[in-house]
Amino acid sequence: MPKRRFLIVCHDADTDGCFNLDDLPGSGGRIDVAARCVVAGLLISYGVRKDAEILLFFQRGPRPGLTIRISGDRVKYLNPDERSTAALIRNAILKHKNAGVLESSPGVQVFRSDLETLLKTGRNVYYLKEDGIPAENFVFPEDEILFLLGDHRDLTADEESIVMKYARAKLNLSPLSLYSEHCITIIHNILDRKFSGSPVPENRN
Ligand SMILES: C[S@@+](CC[C@H](N)C(=O)[O-])C[C@H]1O[C@@H](n2cnc3c(N)ncnc32)[C@H](O)[C@@H]1O
Repeated sequence: MPKRRFLIVCHDADTDGCFNLDDLPGSGGRIDVAARCVVAGLLISYGVRKDAEILLFFQRGPRPGLTIRISGDRVKYLNPDERSTAALIRNAILKHKNAGVLESSPGVQVFRSDLETLLKTGRNVYYLKEDGIPAENFVFPEDEILFLLGDHRDLTADEESIVMKYARAKLNLSPLSLYSEHCITIIHNILDRKFSGSPVPENRN
């Protein structure tokens, strides 16, 4: 089963950590999208995906390049609701204060980076995009995969040109344009089915 990593480029979410937990879309600059991606990427019913990791890369605010890494094998205090997940993110942002790499809570690391560095350190990068090739029958590597996607906004042309230097392929998940967290769920489903080892029952109809 490959380790799955998801890198979400967050375009408007603020990095000063002053957002109101009762107004995540407005005061948080759509931090609600990031929170939903964390939940979709790491949680299953009554459990955590130990083989998954989320990277939230924040482009805006006083500390552009702030990056939060949440690792499924170590994370604690992660719950399925958006509000408490956003609180975990806010805690990471507030505690960082320009330190190098800080572990703000178990399994949650925060540091400054740039897109190119994150992509260079990621093995087997795939870019999720509507105009990519279908992902369903794609042959994925079995060790580690990094999927990159936008938040409520697509990547800019500049971001895309950096990503395409490192991406092994651009993958499409649907004929429709989907929410980021739904893209993550579909990827998990594709990989779960491919690598779980349990045969899919035959359709007898
Ligand atoms: C909500 S979408 C961004 C805005 C959207 N493209 C639009 O025009 O409204 C979030 C991200 O999910 C990914 N995405 C959305 N639909 C996809 C699809 N059908 N196949 C692959 N990736 C998709 C892309 O990375 C996209 O930037």
